[in-house]
Amino acid sequence: MDSFEFNKIAGAVLGALLFIMGIGIFSDAIFHRRPPATAAYNLPAEEAAPAGAAAAAPTVPLPELLAKADPKRGETLAKPCAACHTFEKGGADKIGPHLFGVVERPIASAAGFAYSDALKTKGGNWNFDALDHFIANPRGYANGTKMAYGGEKDPARRADILAFLRSKADTPAPLPAAAEAPAGGEAPKPTP
Ligand code: HEC
Repeated sequence: MDSFEFNKIAGAVLGALLFIMGIGIFSDAIFHRRPPATAAYNLPAEEAAPAGAAAAAPTVPLPELLAKADPKRGETLAKPCAACHTFEKGGADKIGPHLFGVVERPIASAAGFAYSDALKTKGGNWNFDALDHFIANPRGYANGTKMAYGGEKDPARRADILAFLRSKADTPAPLPAAAEAPAGGEAPKPTP
């Protein structure tokens, strides 16, 4: 290859690089990226909470989530739990204790199951609130628990799981009433 030919090739390569750079600069000039003036979606404003609701919580309260929860969805979401738990009446203990009727069951009360001290010393019953916290973050709720499960971070999914757990009982525990619900009636649905 003589030097003339080499120069031609080098020139072509350089030319191509310049051309690509040029396109980049040119398209940047056309498509100038401006940050959006407003967010693409609006987060629910705090004042959207129904009047009279306790201290406008930024998250949807658990009773409201439970009112919308679906045990069928929960059954699917509870598949990972089934690796360690049974849910049916008379179900055996596996890596974890059987969970039939666990809602309102005293904490760490499955006869014959070797619970961790973290759960044995907890006391009280598995009400919806306690279960919600435990499933969200087992170690955060009971530091030292043997339950090797990372936690379900989505509150709506947890509510579905709770609805499923609730359905697995002879007499499903009553759902907690929303704070502002009129006695015996449905909680008024706040418009989002
Ligand atoms: C890797 C196995 C494993 C998985 C997965 C798992 N658990 Fe557990 N679970 C355990 C063990 C072990 C315990 C006993 C914990 C202790 O003694 O500290 C437990 C305890 C519990 C308890 C307390 C029961 C009682 O009698 O006090 C509940 C409720 C529970 N699990 C629900 C769930 C749910 C719901 C899921 C799925 C979202 C789940 N677990 C996933 C192993 C597991």
